[in-house]
Amino acid sequence: MTSSLSTTFTGLNFVNPFVLASAPPTENKRKIMRAFEAGWGGVVTKTIGLHPVENVAGPKTIYQRTSETKPYVSRMKRPDTVSHSSWNWELISDQSLDLWLPDLEEIKTTYPDRMVIASIMAGAGNEEEMENWRKLAKAVVGVGCDAIELNLSCPHMDRKDMGANVANDEEIIRSVLQAVKSAVSVPIWVKLTPANSSLLDGAAAAYDAGAASISLCNTFPSLPLMDPETLKFEVEVDGLVTSGGLGGLAILHQALQRVSDISRAFPDKSISGIGGIRGFREAFNFIVHGAGNLQVCTAAMEEKGSGGIGVKLIQELKDDLSAYLEQKGHSSIEEFRGIARERIVEHSQIRRKSDTYNGGFAISA
Ligand SMILES: Cc1cc2nc3c(=O)[nH]c(=O)nc-3n(C[C@H](O)[C@H](O)[C@H](O)COP(=O)(O)O)c2cc1C
Repeated sequence: MTSSLSTTFTGLNFVNPFVLASAPPTENKRKIMRAFEAGWGGVVTKTIGLHPVENVAGPKTIYQRTSETKPYVSRMKRPDTVSHSSWNWELISDQSLDLWLPDLEEIKTTYPDRMVIASIMAGAGNEEEMENWRKLAKAVVGVGCDAIELNLSCPHMDRKDMGANVANDEEIIRSVLQAVKSAVSVPIWVKLTPANSSLLDGAAAAYDAGAASISLCNTFPSLPLMDPETLKFEVEVDGLVTSGGLGGLAILHQALQRVSDISRAFPDKSISGIGGIRGFREAFNFIVHGAGNLQVCTAAMEEKGSGGIGVKLIQELKDDLSAYLEQKGHSSIEEFRGIARERIVEHSQIRRKSDTYNGGFAISA
């Protein structure tokens, strides 16, 4: 049997299912072009908006590491450490829509077989903001973008009517989808926040209102650590911090659980898995829980010597997935996508030590 890395996801053909997530690796034309040259199947652009953006006066992202000898988590340089997470408080793209448009057009013309998903964001609560969503959507589709990802998930916004601040509101999810769907006919992905007690309701509203896919997860709201000696936060401006987003390996399990929840509730719907992918094993785990597309951010940013776009990483991901498909005799990821779904059950259904317990049931491998 011949195996293939190509996948069809939300009606789009991906040469491989690995996509750079919306973040610094996709913040400009130069990086996106290099990413496609390196072999990524697609990119979700850094989120594009219409309002002015000014980032904090200090580092926007830190990389935290831990070690076997002293396993605390810190950005401090120490020998023999491994990656734990990224923490960031970066806002959306500070490049204007007008500057993005010719770049997106050139990228699509140069790499017609790679998928360009434009991440966009506007506000909520009035018709002017709905018009902003429509304007952004029409503009990016007009220059050839294959799909749109609605950013309803950024955990650190400078406005109350944007990002994760509105992701609890099913009416807003519906109204934004309605506005964007009235403007364009490409697939619309909706990126939700993992920090939402009613995630399933949000996903249901998004799918019902016409979302082709849910993208999960954005970073988890979190605080950076304080150093006991200096009493400084590991990232701060004038001694102050605010909630930012945790990404990377540290969020893998939590991201998987949320992807699994949505995938089991809506097994026929599409889901793009994000959060802690560093190689094939993490990607595999998202696929078995139902993801048909994989997005990567922190691991690509951390790769040294490649300008933070994961040149070695994409080669490894492709090689390792290829080898796995061959070894198992699978023609594509579709043959094992979702196989974990039926093995996630209620706690009461897990067999107990005592034979007399009657709440459990046997699971066959
Ligand atoms: C520095 C940085 C900037 C990010 N900017 C955006 C953004 O503009 N829009 C967005 O939807 N997600 C953004 N993200 C979130 C990532 O796309 C991704 O969802 C998250 O980092 C989890 O993936 P990871 O564990 O592979 O890093 C950003 C993440 C980081 C680290």
